[in-house]
Amino acid sequence: MQNKMIKKAPIGVFDSGYGGLTVLSELRKAMPDNDFIYLGDNARAPYGTRSFDVVYEYTLQAVKTLFDQGCHLVILACNTASAKALRTIQQNDLPKIAPEKRVLGVIRPCAEMIDEFSTTKHIGVLGTVGTVISESYVLEIEKLHPHIVVSQEACPMWVPLVEDNEFNTPGGEFFIRQSLESLLSKDSALDALILGCTHYPILIEQIRKFVPNTVRVIAQGEIVAKKLVDYLRRHPDMADRCSKNGIKMYYTTENPRSFEEKASLFLDEKVVAEQIQLS
Ligand code: DGL
Repeated sequence: MQNKMIKKAPIGVFDSGYGGLTVLSELRKAMPDNDFIYLGDNARAPYGTRSFDVVYEYTLQAVKTLFDQGCHLVILACNTASAKALRTIQQNDLPKIAPEKRVLGVIRPCAEMIDEFSTTKHIGVLGTVGTVISESYVLEIEKLHPHIVVSQEACPMWVPLVEDNEFNTPGGEFFIRQSLESLLSKDSALDALILGCTHYPILIEQIRKFVPNTVRVIAQGEIVAKKLVDYLRRHPDMADRCSKNGIKMYYTTENPRSFEEKASLFLDEKVVAEQIQLS
């Protein structure tokens, strides 16, 4: 009865910039009928090198903006935001600002599934400096699978390589190889690598060149999509509040024309974006 009065709305997908489009792309494949609003804080990206307080403040602004757009469910499709802001938003802010709404991240779903990808139970995580320093992957995996040994590597050069379209050059490959060699040298038993940053799936061909083929390279978009489908199955009330007209909307805090151009690197189609301010 109560649900009939609630206006259905798209699922909000937030990222610091373009990278979350790799996650959105998988969400759309898994849930083609659902509507999505993508919000990229391109004007203030990257988040990877920013402090906890700043990432939290920016992420909360983005979540509130998506709530103002009507969204009942927001996915933080950004590892740095999931690592540094999600828990505080879920525990401190949501109960005050919108107790009936939900915000989910991308780290927990990967931590839940990682056991299925590794035989040796020695895995590696590649991420931004912020994600690695937060130890969010290590802590989540430890809670769920205490037998798994996790090694991490921060790859500060990788996001700029994607943003500047320099990853397919000898210089770009140098930095990709350098970070991978550093991670692989930390644990010779590694047999699975999580790409713990939204941009890294774009580098997957280059990454595969420098990783032995006994090591699985795991992009998180598909995992997040699978887990979201499962979440909505287990929460029919929330599923019911998500509109389903196959519509996608794109908002950016930067120039929408630049967003539209860059977005084609992440999505195989033209998008129309609008500028929005977060406050
Ligand atoms: N979206 C960020 C992440 O997944 C990468 C880009 C950034 O540093 O803002 O960690």
